[in-house]
Amino acid sequence: MNVLFASSELYPLAKTGGLADVLGALPAALQARGHSVSCALPFYREVMESEPELLDPDLALEIPMGDRVLAGRVYQTETPNGVTVFLIRRDEFFDRSGLYGNELGDYQDIAERFIFFSKAVIALAANISPAIDILHAHDWQTGLVPIFAKAAAAQFKTVFTIHNLGYQGSFWGVDFKLCNLPDRYFAPDGGLEHYGHLNCLKAGIVHADQVTTVSPTYAREIQTPAHGRGLDVTLREHAGKLTGILNGIDQSLWCPASDPLIKENYTAETLAEGKAACRRHLLKRADWPKDTTDLIVGVVSRLDSQKGIDLIRDAWPEILRMPVRLVILASGDPDLEAWLTSAMERHPDRLFAEIGFSEKLAHRIQAGCDAVLMPSRYEPCGLSQLYAQRYGTLPIVHGTGGLADTVADWNDEAREGTGFVFRPCNAPALLGALRRAVELAQDRPAWEIAAREGMARDFSWEASAMATEEVYARA
Ligand code: ADP
Ligand code: GLC
Repeated sequence: MNVLFASSELYPLAKTGGLADVLGALPAALQARGHSVSCALPFYREVMESEPELLDPDLALEIPMGDRVLAGRVYQTETPNGVTVFLIRRDEFFDRSGLYGNELGDYQDIAERFIFFSKAVIALAANISPAIDILHAHDWQTGLVPIFAKAAAAQFKTVFTIHNLGYQGSFWGVDFKLCNLPDRYFAPDGGLEHYGHLNCLKAGIVHADQVTTVSPTYAREIQTPAHGRGLDVTLREHAGKLTGILNGIDQSLWCPASDPLIKENYTAETLAEGKAACRRHLLKRADWPKDTTDLIVGVVSRLDSQKGIDLIRDAWPEILRMPVRLVILASGDPDLEAWLTSAMERHPDRLFAEIGFSEKLAHRIQAGCDAVLMPSRYEPCGLSQLYAQRYGTLPIVHGTGGLADTVADWNDEAREGTGFVFRPCNAPALLGALRRAVELAQDRPAWEIAAREGMARDFSWEASAMATEEVYARA
């Protein structure tokens, strides 16, 4: 099949979270299975700054936006794994710091920016030859792609993937004018309107030929009022075209045996020595004694209520009584950033927090920590727990969404499992799981059984790519 992906992130060109990792890997996995795949991405400032090698296919776009017509231009580059990326350029929208906004929040014209991008993708699709069979759009930023395809009477089919129902791209109804669509779409059964707002995610769900989300459990959860965020009714109505497909990970980028960013490479056979070296390296970074036997627990996360980092804050006084040290790499919510900074000032021997975004430190945390903590309130898939298992690091997770699907809770009697799963999502349950981890760490052979079981798991993209192919066939 000939497939065009459309999304607002793509590793290594533009990343704020897991969406980028998926776009950096799934297209290549499909390509390896014989499909012809390309991607469309906004030409952000950070893409320009990475100075990619560019081709100019000489494709100028004229995009109607309400009563204006805006010009755009398409450039072309290639990812390290050989996938063509079409960069949609309009500097007024994308030559800015950050993908979505700055310290003050989302850019005010964020709806306009991604309506423009979504329309540009349809214009681009019409120029790709041979003609595409499938346009695969991701998250709210490209949620309008399926309806724009219909409006253009496109011959290809559309697939829409929900990576996170928490971000719906919900804007005041006036922005609907920018879509240049007939008014009937902004009506209760028109798909774009939701309680008087323009809802881009809903538009994707209603108008795509097939819809996927990133784990089977999340696919079920979002059809319930508790997790549906106001769209559970819509999702139940369209359940017949909804499939949950677990994400994979790029096992060449996240591989302890060859990772160039970590202190020492290791395999399941050399786990003990290799990990010890990475652990010492991380302890040095935190300025902690290199022989501490405390449990070193890492967090690599966006700071957003989804991620439940406030539960760590609630549990902190208790954690201080346990033989545990936290290494946290995160950024986002200013209150949580401030808490992390002040807690580290007060207890520099127990918390090392780096506020920011660092691919290098993320890898070093995965390799150097004993465990990785993810107290997410909800988690569509989650990648950090997959990376952790790959690095022989035990994930401690709230049993929700993709976390429930990918972490096997340690069972003392059977001596099997790959991490610790807690429920419900609160500080006492989190502390309970942390205590179990501290206990298991006393039993070194058992800990290593769990670590090796995690390392042996197959989280490659192969299975996800095959399942995605079936969805394309259904579309
Ligand atoms: P989400 O997409 O909801 O943020 P995932 O677990 O799917 O959650 O993916 C998070 C991705 O972003 C992982 O690759 C993780 O390593 C990365 N990440 C998150 N925060 C940071 C950070 N502060 N620095 C570096 N990488 C980060
Ligand atoms: C979203 C979700 C995360 C998922 C990622 C990639 O950002 O929050 O759980 O792993 O998308 O699909």
